[in-house]
Amino acid sequence: MVERSGLTDLSGLEARFGRAPGVRFENRFGGPVAVLDAAGSTAVVAIQGAQVLSWQRLRAPGEILWLSPVAKLGAGKAVRGGVPVCWPWFGPHPEDAKMPAHGFVRAAPWRVAGSAASARRATLVLIFDATAIDPALWPFRAAAEIEITLAETLTISLSTSNLGDETLPLTQALHTYLAVGDIADVSLSGLEDHTYVDQLDSGTRHVLGRHVQAGEIVVTSEVDRIYQGAPGTITVLDRSLGREIRVSNTGSRSTVIWNPWIEKAERLGDLGHDGYRRMLCVEAANAGDDVVRIAPRARHRLVTEISVRPIGSS
Ligand code: BG6
Repeated sequence: MVERSGLTDLSGLEARFGRAPGVRFENRFGGPVAVLDAAGSTAVVAIQGAQVLSWQRLRAPGEILWLSPVAKLGAGKAVRGGVPVCWPWFGPHPEDAKMPAHGFVRAAPWRVAGSAASARRATLVLIFDATAIDPALWPFRAAAEIEITLAETLTISLSTSNLGDETLPLTQALHTYLAVGDIADVSLSGLEDHTYVDQLDSGTRHVLGRHVQAGEIVVTSEVDRIYQGAPGTITVLDRSLGREIRVSNTGSRSTVIWNPWIEKAERLGDLGHDGYRRMLCVEAANAGDDVVRIAPRARHRLVTEISVRPIGSS
């Protein structure tokens, strides 16, 4: 059972939520993180942003998630890489361009609220209480909960509870940066025949065009698309690393595929010299026209489950 409560300092976290060897707390990247160990895998989760930063398996060395070489916590900025949580809006704010992109929880401290561990799985729960947010920034009453479960697979669940009396409009994403050997050797299947909005069509979202995906996705230039409709499993075939990453989402009716390619990576400045070749974002989302409307006192859950296997295994 996951035990729930809420302390924030490192020694307090260790005393209350440490479950050695399955869950422990350390300082890394300049801030507090939880290190989860289970099923021959290790994951690192920043308390800032409730962001998974790393996932590695002993039997197949190498990162499954891509992380910026200059990743630093506590710098007042979202860390690029791992699995950032975009909430309670995806992309630019729908009405106010001065608001932070992808919502306000990515660079914020979350509260650890629970942990559990066995040899086969480790779980961490973090909560962001948005009822304390200035209504001028966001006029709703809600809480977000992230539950991370490390087992043979990595599962991240983002629950939104509407604590107010009005319907809550929500867009969001679990913005997973998958690590790939070389983007030139990668193809993505599972979104064939899906309609997508190409965010590169125009600077104005109202005139964005709709397209239909023909065949697998191969990235040879900047890609920034919101695919519509719930796909089954998305498979990233990585021939240079000889592995397949599968992503299965629930509570999601849109999937964002993003790679900044060369010029945008240079503008962003935190991808390293060839970062764009080593990553591909496959984001479990409700984005664009796919707005989730949560009734008062109701809850919505967005879940992404990621698994890895050698190419050709079942
Ligand atoms: C993607 C968006 O999800 O995130 C892109 O579709 C955006 O448009 C990218 O550029 C990165 O966003 P940020 O705010 O982390 O630089």
